[in-house]
Amino acid sequence: MSEQLRSKTIGILKTPNDPRVCLLPKEIKRLISEFDLKILFEPDLGSSLQIKDEEYVQAGATCLPRETIFKDANTIVSINHTFSEGEMKKGCKFIGIFNPLFHDSKFAIYKDHAATVYSLDLLPRTTLAQSMDVLSSMASLAGYRAVIIASELYNGILPMLTTAAGTLRPAKVLVLGAGVAGLQAIATARRLGAIVEAFDVRKSAGEEVRSLGATFIEVEGYTESASAGGYAVEQSKEYQEKQKELIHEHIASANIVISTANIPGRKAPLLIETRSVEAMKAGSIIVDLAAEQGGNCELSKNGEYIKHNGVTILGNSSLSADIPAAASQLLSNNYFSFLKYMEKSDNPDDPLLSASKILDNGEWKHPHFIQKLQPA
Ligand code: NAI
Repeated sequence: MSEQLRSKTIGILKTPNDPRVCLLPKEIKRLISEFDLKILFEPDLGSSLQIKDEEYVQAGATCLPRETIFKDANTIVSINHTFSEGEMKKGCKFIGIFNPLFHDSKFAIYKDHAATVYSLDLLPRTTLAQSMDVLSSMASLAGYRAVIIASELYNGILPMLTTAAGTLRPAKVLVLGAGVAGLQAIATARRLGAIVEAFDVRKSAGEEVRSLGATFIEVEGYTESASAGGYAVEQSKEYQEKQKELIHEHIASANIVISTANIPGRKAPLLIETRSVEAMKAGSIIVDLAAEQGGNCELSKNGEYIKHNGVTILGNSSLSADIPAAASQLLSNNYFSFLKYMEKSDNPDDPLLSASKILDNGEWKHPHFIQKLQPA
């Protein structure tokens, strides 16, 4: 069956407790004019960004209550959403960013309602999918924001400052995990004048780290997997021990630690033990972007500030929501590209659509769910 959206009605929902918006009026206008779609939206969709409902109406969309959207739309688009009892109808299509490999239990309701569900965070990290890559968009902003927040919380300054009253030494920033968020954190901290060190299990990250003017901390003995699609894989006990000791020493001497290390669908690796936090100077800062998946720091809690021995630890895996205008601009382009791609694809086995599909009319499609949740 073709994935085309033509002559379909798309409903856009707000995401509770999230000021970001998945589609802005500019992209709505393009969707309506290029693909002849009917677009419905919830009142106040863009209010967190000071975008008035009239701007969406001027773009061609129709403002309707949430219940009517659920009744009339064949496709529901949001960043993420929850349902109240009886809201969902059978056979609807959902598009969002659901982190399904980590939050897999929440898909039972979609299965029960014979839904088709696409999660944009499952798209492969290939050139073809680059314009739809919500993970990269949000990770870049989170990496930037992590450094800005850390610099505000830190009781010193990041650059070296020479004055008549003496010289202030630059802050030492350690970045753990040099993927998209980590590299942006390194670049931001360097621009602010800090001395930056970074660590990643992927050796290939070393070149990128050094090209940004930071020092790459190397641990010998890493195992790579060609089938992991560029992502990190779990390492041997021996490697983990060696890594732990070396990282401990670097954490102890850092003023700011930004941790971003993740393995898709798994608990985040523990890189900052309590003893390492206790070895840091009072006034130091840790920002843990892996907090949603358990955290890289033993003490972090997602969405909370914690003080331990004078060290402030912020656990937050959705820092892009702190800068919602920037985040929504990137998301809107990512969602537009995905919907456009979906509209143009007439291949039932399309690699991008298949990779991001969790359920098809209530049938599990993603290998993770087929293995884990289908009854034996
Ligand atoms: P991620 O968010 O899954 O993880 C962040 C970083 O943590 C990764 O660099 C990972 O290697 C590292 N990490 C995992 N376990 C660790 C440990 N125990 N200690 C230290 N570091 C650890 O990764 P992200 O940022 O989403 O990127 C994943 C891959 O995808 C990277 O290789 C990246 O270059 C690639 N990519 C490719 C794109 C493309 O268009 N071709 C676009 C974006 C990313």
